[in-house]
Amino acid sequence: MINLNALALRFTHIPENTANTALWILNQSLLPLKEEWLLLRTVSEMIGAIKTLKVRGAPLIGVAAALSLGQSATKGASHVQLIDEARALRAARPTAVNLMLCMDRMMAGIASGITPEELLGIAVHLFNEDVSLCARIAENGAELIGNGDHILTHCNTGGLATAGSGTALGVIRKANEQGKTIHVYVDETRPLLQGARLTTWELKKLGIPYTLITDNMAAHLMRLRKVQKIIVGCDRIAANGDFANKIGTYGLAVMARYHRMPFYVAGPYTTMDWACINGDRIPIEQRNASEVSGLEGVFGRVEWAAPDSPVYNPAFDVTPAELVSRWILDCGVFAGNDFQAGRVRQSMPQSMLQT
Ligand code: MRU
Repeated sequence: MINLNALALRFTHIPENTANTALWILNQSLLPLKEEWLLLRTVSEMIGAIKTLKVRGAPLIGVAAALSLGQSATKGASHVQLIDEARALRAARPTAVNLMLCMDRMMAGIASGITPEELLGIAVHLFNEDVSLCARIAENGAELIGNGDHILTHCNTGGLATAGSGTALGVIRKANEQGKTIHVYVDETRPLLQGARLTTWELKKLGIPYTLITDNMAAHLMRLRKVQKIIVGCDRIAANGDFANKIGTYGLAVMARYHRMPFYVAGPYTTMDWACINGDRIPIEQRNASEVSGLEGVFGRVEWAAPDSPVYNPAFDVTPAELVSRWILDCGVFAGNDFQAGRVRQSMPQSMLQT
């Protein structure tokens, strides 16, 4: 019997009894106003959920896609169908490399002719691995958080975005568990408000003190020294340490440098892309204009721009390595010269270095 529980994903499976396989996701597009669990029966339902950000966050979309594919295999999908489904899942969102890594591992399993239960086993391993990667990131990063720190974060990088306790938010959570007195400033994170809708929801549940701000207040807070450090997550780290994260991250890094403030990025090794030599090579997802000019969702249909206004809506931006103070990874805490000297690469599992 397999029973996996994350903050935003649940999976149960009884071998040889596919009727009892169930993959549920917490519909993140409705949070915090409604906690709705969706039963996803097919890979195409999972692709839809990933594209519409009902399930989101770099590590979680990879794990969710893998479980969906494993479920499809145990329900009797053919070899050809599984390959097609893996390719379609892999292409559901372009920036977070965890999705590609998880799909590549699943495809290697399919190609090697393993049984459906064994293929599902790879997905379960990816889930469990993410839980332990989050725990290690949290341990490593909490060392950098001091008693009394006021920390600014962006987007949502907690339990909702991973199978475990999160990346940047996992670090914050760990520091809080260690008894450090901290206060979190949460960027609302336009356009889809992952900070305002999701991070506040998590912090409130965890009982960690926080204050919500709009994105354009961050520089003002830094100038007033209301925050001492910034910590964010990542969707893809290039071989030179440049990284992509939710749009607005780059601006925070520039402001942090001006204000001489530490700027940390936290992520698992599964977010490293050694084939990508620098941030210019990271594909940036472009999303619908309606996310910027108006929204249909839990608030109903709201439009705030002149009808048919031209819109530019990149979902991510790239922060150059030179603006990063430390990379908090599961395998250690690194500085820029660790990338240059090959120390980050050496700390990776062997399988990652074959690229
Ligand atoms: O578009 P989203 O909500 O999936 O974007 C998520 C982010 O940018 C997170 O900061 C990133 O995935 C790190 S999560 C652990």
